[in-house]
Amino acid sequence: MKKNALLLSLAILATIALASCLKQEEPVEGVKLSLPNQPFDYEGVQFPPAFQIEFQANAPNVFLANNPGGGQFIDFENSFNGISANPTVTNEGATLGRVLFYDTKLSINNATSCASCHIQKFAFADPSAGSIGFGGKVTPRNSMAIINVALNRNLFWDSRVHSAKELTLKPVQNHIEMGMEDLDVLAKKLTNTPYYPALFQKAYGSTDINEERISDAMAQFLCSMVSVDSRFDAFTAGNSNAINGLEKMGAELFFSDRTKCAQCHSGNNFAADDRPGGEYGESSFGSGGPKGTANNGLDLSSTDVGLRNGQFRIPSLRNIALTGPFMHDGRFKTLEEVVDFYDSGVKAHPFLDKKMIGPDGEPLRLKLSSLEKKALVAFMETLTDQNLIKDEKFSNPFN
Ligand code: HEC
Ligand code: HEC
Repeated sequence: MKKNALLLSLAILATIALASCLKQEEPVEGVKLSLPNQPFDYEGVQFPPAFQIEFQANAPNVFLANNPGGGQFIDFENSFNGISANPTVTNEGATLGRVLFYDTKLSINNATSCASCHIQKFAFADPSAGSIGFGGKVTPRNSMAIINVALNRNLFWDSRVHSAKELTLKPVQNHIEMGMEDLDVLAKKLTNTPYYPALFQKAYGSTDINEERISDAMAQFLCSMVSVDSRFDAFTAGNSNAINGLEKMGAELFFSDRTKCAQCHSGNNFAADDRPGGEYGESSFGSGGPKGTANNGLDLSSTDVGLRNGQFRIPSLRNIALTGPFMHDGRFKTLEEVVDFYDSGVKAHPFLDKKMIGPDGEPLRLKLSSLEKKALVAFMETLTDQNLIKDEKFSNPFN
């Protein structure tokens, strides 16, 4: 009898909980999901041959996937530390990923979506130094732009996550960002949201909604965001008029031994080579540790130590003119400030990258003229990809 009473009160509690859940799930008034009848093309997206050659040259033990889904993404299955491969992108899978990316239902109080902090017109970065999460709290680091995520093996400012798929559920669960700690609750919530079962059916062949599928679909969307179409790309493809004289001067400086910018922001992605198979950077901690981070002399002693000892991811500079403020804490508002910092502001640190130490053992001073500084900024501005920020297939499907 006692047991029955307990069960009854549990059932009542559950009903109340469910009712309040359902109440929260009513769509915000006037907001509706609109998707094209024919899905957008995500699976046909290719990295240009130059990227592919670079990958093969730099990482001989990493092969380009030749999968039936398009073969566009690098397959790291045979790579180190059991890092999982990028997902195979399908049009239906990435469409579902797009909806999830823009849906505030992924947060505990229906207030925040991925797109709250990753905004398309800013190349999926956030113009505030710290971003506001579901409860009004502010993230301690600057929201990162989403740039060619499929190429990176080490994600976040401290390289702590090693695949897009592994990453996607972190912000959902994060207590500042979206606060949805229990992923089974999320799966149930989506199951009870009218438009999801059909979208999962299209993407995966059944209406089952679970953690694995949620993370896979979002990773598909992230990996389909390929950004390779800047004025500088047109220039390297042979259109010598795509950039002007000042920008060319900046490019020469950027790739020079004097500034060494391109020794860290390297290759076609203007980012660190963080892939397995290549050499470890001077400042990395021997074999086995994540690559592609450096201490670039921001602080004498760091409060946020990044990976460790003030080492942070060497981020891609593609779309950099759109993604300010800059650095992991958003301390610089403009690219001019960034260039001034590299010119004369680099601070000594026991782990300062060797490339930034002069022959006298002191932090390097570049002694750039004001024209040279302008040129470097102008060059970085040629790395903006207008397609990424305007393409409807990456835009908000709720309106
Ligand atoms: C409240 C703001 C906020 C929300 C919401 C948010 N992010 Fe982020 N995102 C950040 C911040 C801040 C970082 C950098 C975190 C760090 O390095 O510790 C980041 C980093 C990332 C990165 C790493 C990029 C790289 O190159 O390493 C990806 C990818 C990403 N977020 C995707 C997502 C997805 C997908 C969602 C939704 C499920 C999401 N974010 C929700 C703020 C947010
Ligand atoms: C030793 C390696 C190294 C060199 C050399 C280097 N950088 Fe960086 N760069 C980094 C690292 C690491 C970060 C991220 C640091 C952080 O946020 O703590 C960064 C960040 C940046 C950012 C901000 C990125 C963002 O998303 O906020 C810009 C812009 C930049 N660098 C431009 C340059 C330019 C221009 C040069 C040459 C004058 C240069 N870098 C030389 C390692 C380097």
